[in-house]
Amino acid sequence: MCGIVGYLGNRKAIPIIMEGLKSLEYRGYDSSGIAYFKDHKIEVIKKEGKIQNLDALLNYDEDTFMGIAHTRWATHGKANDLNAHPHTYGKITLVHNGIIENYEDLKKALFAKGKHFESETDTIVVACLLDELYEETRDMLKAISLLMQKIQGSYALAILCKDETDTLYAVRKDSPLIVGVGENETILASDIPAILGVTKNYYLLNDKEIVQVKKNKVTIYDEHLNEVLKETKTYQGDLEVSSKKGYEHFMLKEIHEEPEVLQNLLLKYTKEDKIREVFDITPYKNIEIVACGSAYHAGLIGKYYLETYANKKTTVTYASEYRYQKHFFDKENLVILISQSGETADTLAALKLAKENGIDTLSIVNVRDSSIARSSKYVFYTDAGIEVAVATTKAYFAQVIALILLALNTVEDRASYLASLRKLPSFITKYIDSFDYESYAKRLATCEHIFYLGRGIDYALAMEGSLKLKEISYIHSEAYPSGELKHGTISLIDENTGVIAVVMNEELKEKSISNIKEVLARGAKVLAITPIDEDFASSKILLTKEDAFLNPLLAIVPMQMLAYHVAKIKGCDIDKPRNLAKSVTVE
Ligand code: AGP
Repeated sequence: MCGIVGYLGNRKAIPIIMEGLKSLEYRGYDSSGIAYFKDHKIEVIKKEGKIQNLDALLNYDEDTFMGIAHTRWATHGKANDLNAHPHTYGKITLVHNGIIENYEDLKKALFAKGKHFESETDTIVVACLLDELYEETRDMLKAISLLMQKIQGSYALAILCKDETDTLYAVRKDSPLIVGVGENETILASDIPAILGVTKNYYLLNDKEIVQVKKNKVTIYDEHLNEVLKETKTYQGDLEVSSKKGYEHFMLKEIHEEPEVLQNLLLKYTKEDKIREVFDITPYKNIEIVACGSAYHAGLIGKYYLETYANKKTTVTYASEYRYQKHFFDKENLVILISQSGETADTLAALKLAKENGIDTLSIVNVRDSSIARSSKYVFYTDAGIEVAVATTKAYFAQVIALILLALNTVEDRASYLASLRKLPSFITKYIDSFDYESYAKRLATCEHIFYLGRGIDYALAMEGSLKLKEISYIHSEAYPSGELKHGTISLIDENTGVIAVVMNEELKEKSISNIKEVLARGAKVLAITPIDEDFASSKILLTKEDAFLNPLLAIVPMQMLAYHVAKIKGCDIDKPRNLAKSVTVE
């Protein structure tokens, strides 16, 4: 998703802004741009493609102390120089993250007044409308307040006005924006990594709050222009977020961080056979998990543990579907929203729908103080640290552990389960380096289609394994219930099809193995990920046989490593896959 950076301070702005913008690359983008004052005019430079294309046009030594910049993930209008942000209309230049849902109506009304638009974006319409409101009021704060009454949808805006060469404005609704407060300098950004070059202290903005930044003065107003006083927050995490620490990719670094992340969660929330400070789900009749992508897959694993060990009926729904399905809201239920970024628009919308219907909401979130965390009634922070790679690994695993802790918190005789969980970090460390993933990956990298098969929780594991592979290697892949394959889809299997079978569930072993044999009979090569040391596949990643509680979790890292090595062999941009965004802040 788009990234925003704005700066006003006592240092030359361009190097600071561009450092911040580069730290937001992981959010996904297809063009970038910057605007700053020069000789009392607003200079706008923007280019399609990677930030390097923009960098090549900039003079870092430019004598300017204020500016705004943007990385665009195209929603309206293709990725090109014209549609890149910033956008200028009249005296207004701005950048935008989000979607203006009524921009076509606004565009028609403005067009009828003789306004013309160069770009195809919804953002240019916002710039035009704000310029009109500013011309009417000659007051930027009033104009922005009026603007919010007219536009619908999600937005984070950083704004320059040609008449105010000493002031930077910003406003947000549903899209993220924070205000970093340094010594005589202020930096606005979509996310924490972009401010760390300037400060660790920041203000959180609520929806429809307006920020006015002047030299050494930040003032925040509500939508009615009443001043809002806030406490600053201080980022406590690793300042080295933009460092790979010697790993070739952030994804590999973050997989290597998994043992520590899980260890920290277990140390924080468990002691001997006790669980502490974990939300109690006992009072709730049923659990409804709502999420997207890998977070949804974590929810499927959570369903298995919540039902099997906590005896809690659990449903798992894609957030993008949850909003539009027929609901039978039950106030005795708990809705759990899972989100690494805490900014996923579909999940945020589902949260709001549950709240509007009086349902208690618990969010399992990685990014502290994110929109979903702040909007839900209860929150469980996974504290996996900043995850830069678009393909989630450590945060997904932390979500799974959080769900398991919620389940075990209702279980009396949990001692053995906790003892099993405590073995997990060392297994992860072992499995990261125990197998020659590169050799398995060599054959998979030649496949055009790869199926991941599994039964029960193995199917849920397979879904995440498949997503990890396709999102970074661009190989078409799908996870399929082993038992369902013969009802049609097996027609697609031939000697060129790659098949990865997840067989962690001992109870279903016989059936899973017979399904694998059906696939082998069609000529496919099958790589099994399993603790079962029997000859039923073409090759296998043989894991340690642990108890039924721990076993399924052992398959997660091998599939992450397999996906990583396939993508590496294919020379893909592993940390920033094409078309993808780390946080999908549009619906
Ligand atoms: C994960 O590898 C993907 N990048 C994506 O599916 C992600 O899990 C999904 O967009 C949800 O994001 P969230 O956890 O930040 O809400």
